Amino acid sequence: MLWLPLFIALLSVGFAKLSIVTVNWFFGHRLTKRIIITLHSINFSLILGFPLLLAYGPGGCPLRLVLDRQWQLVPFFYWPVLISGVFGFTLLVWAAIDFQRTTAPSCLIDNESQFIDLKRRYGPSWQRIFIGSGPMTRVALLPGNEQFTIDVKTKIFQVPRLPRDWNGLSLVQLSDFHFRGAANLAYFAAVCEQAAALKPDLFVFTGDLLDDMERLDWISATLGQLNAPLGQYFILGNHDWYLDASSIRQTLNGCGWIDLASRCLMLPKHASTSVVLCGDETPWMGKHPDLSSIADDAFRILLSHTPDNIHWAREQRIDVMLSGHTHGGQIRLPLLGPVYSPSRYGVRFSAGEFWLKPTLLHVSRGISGREPIRYGCPPEITKLVLRCGPTNDSWCLPPWQRYSRISRARIDSIESRNTGCCGIVIRIRDHFWRPPPETSNRQTYCETPEMFEVGH
Ligand SMILES: [Fe+2]
Repeated sequence: MLWLPLFIALLSVGFAKLSIVTVNWFFGHRLTKRIIITLHSINFSLILGFPLLLAYGPGGCPLRLVLDRQWQLVPFFYWPVLISGVFGFTLLVWAAIDFQRTTAPSCLIDNESQFIDLKRRYGPSWQRIFIGSGPMTRVALLPGNEQFTIDVKTKIFQVPRLPRDWNGLSLVQLSDFHFRGAANLAYFAAVCEQAAALKPDLFVFTGDLLDDMERLDWISATLGQLNAPLGQYFILGNHDWYLDASSIRQTLNGCGWIDLASRCLMLPKHASTSVVLCGDETPWMGKHPDLSSIADDAFRILLSHTPDNIHWAREQRIDVMLSGHTHGGQIRLPLLGPVYSPSRYGVRFSAGEFWLKPTLLHVSRGISGREPIRYGCPPEITKLVLRCGPTNDSWCLPPWQRYSRISRARIDSIESRNTGCCGIVIRIRDHFWRPPPETSNRQTYCETPEMFEVGH
């Protein structure tokens, strides 16, 4: 029966998807390292055992009986197994479609990448320079591994509510170094050298610095070399929590980095309009920062190791949230995208930018991982430049959603007026909701010529 191996393979892939989705959800919670290792072992055993159970399980091959339409002969205990395979495969197809449909929000107006391929740059000597003596060095040396190809990104966002005085504020986000030794100190020093060359207004680090306390002295030669006019700020992640987090904090403090754990600080620039920077290490350490005393008109930036805090951030009217933790999945399959992502939302926020009104979430792929392996998902240094954007929140929606709204609207008048951040007021009459003729919406836009074309 030719179909049999194919169905076994499809159901096994489906079951693997279901198993990984379950594990992703668990890993979004506050679990000890021991529990995580145990869950990993159970997960791998189930994924490997599933096809064997289907092919050689007790009572013969149940799938053969199903294909022969002898349903009544399939032992009862096989049905949950078969159903989980079918359900998992459906989930896989749905996730692949969802991944392909995902588009960046419209407030990302520029996204440039410069790839620094250290293997090519240093030729045959790259291994001697960048491979250390820690565990997993063989993994780091796998053919095609992108661990040593650094994607230096510059992303420009037009964000609502950014005070005009702060137009052009730039941050470099670094995340998830995972010092462990397979990639050595020279590699992380090269990363920081690239980051320093971006010359931002401030540096932020969003957690998971170490996987081995013996590498603590690497901090001064890497993050310790970075300096920005508005300072360097950090939070720690779950892998730091597994180790000695207080020693890591002390070392970073000694290198001039400011700890934002569970608190907020005002950026020292303009006294009249404030930008507040907050840090959140939950669910692993501390508590959510208290924003109750922050002024309503303050622009709010949150560093949160996990993107899972996004809905809390929305409740707190955070304007920009920067996260890491998920590493982009580290392996991104063609068509399917990432599979593994330790988040309660699975792979949804594995990397990239997302608009969840009123919060712009940016998730970095990070620099490394406990396992130094990356395919379709190179390490990322990101410079985020924030510019004043339209005051209308729907401006940040992905293009297809924004188009559907604007295409039903007619621009009544355009006024050039010195108002808000942008200085242009567009009066539109929204035909989609069929308001009375005298009703018009007033929205403020910056440089959006395409909006005029769509609206007319
Ligand atoms: Fe991490």
